[in-house]
Amino acid sequence: MKIKSAEFVVSNSDVDKCPKSRLPEYAFIGRSNVGKSSLINMLTNRKSLAKTSGKPGKTQLINHFLINKNWHLVDLPGYGYARVSKSSKKVFQKFITQYFGLREQLVTAFVLVDIRHKPQPIDLEFMQWLGEHGIPFSIIFTKADKLKPKAINNHIDDYKTILLETWEDMPNHFITSSSKNIGKDELLNYIDSLNSNMVMDSQ
Ligand code: GTP
Ligand code: MG
Repeated sequence: MKIKSAEFVVSNSDVDKCPKSRLPEYAFIGRSNVGKSSLINMLTNRKSLAKTSGKPGKTQLINHFLINKNWHLVDLPGYGYARVSKSSKKVFQKFITQYFGLREQLVTAFVLVDIRHKPQPIDLEFMQWLGEHGIPFSIIFTKADKLKPKAINNHIDDYKTILLETWEDMPNHFITSSSKNIGKDELLNYIDSLNSNMVMDSQ
């Protein structure tokens, strides 16, 4: 899929104020600093459509971007970074939970994890939570430029081993690097195929 247009639509912390259109949407979620906003910029060929930062906690709201005038990409705040209390660390911001609970336009979530790290409980718990709520997701491994191919494979194998303890199959996954433009076509083609299915479903 070619990106012909990408525009910022709205930021808010209230799911009711998200765009009312029925356009299919895809949300990026994951720990703070994992590279959600950077990946949105990479996919859309824009330097600063989504705001990024070296410091965790940059994205604080639900941000909708309209792509090619017919689908939405959603940049969400990260979990796991808490200047807030310990109790709210696990059950991250209420509006994020509401977003996933209420947003019927969501086709699939993309859970981003940093390829450099071993599987982390907070990410596994979040995937479990999505599964329990019947929300489809894929995993996006980020920052692949930081590791050699062998280490990348080892880390993905670690994920496979641990996920297959609870899941029947390894979830769909993608390897990406925003700084080296890795994984862009695979991700966009995947979204394109899901968008086409949505059109077929509604006919
Ligand atoms: P929050 O909004 O705080 O939740 O973070 P985020 O997940 O949106 O991360 P963001 O895109 O702001 O990136 C965080 C940092 O990681 C920035 O310093 C980026 O430059 C860096 N970064 C993001 N993607 C990559 C990547 O693919 N490779 C490398 N080397 N650095 C990356
Ligand atoms: Mg961000």
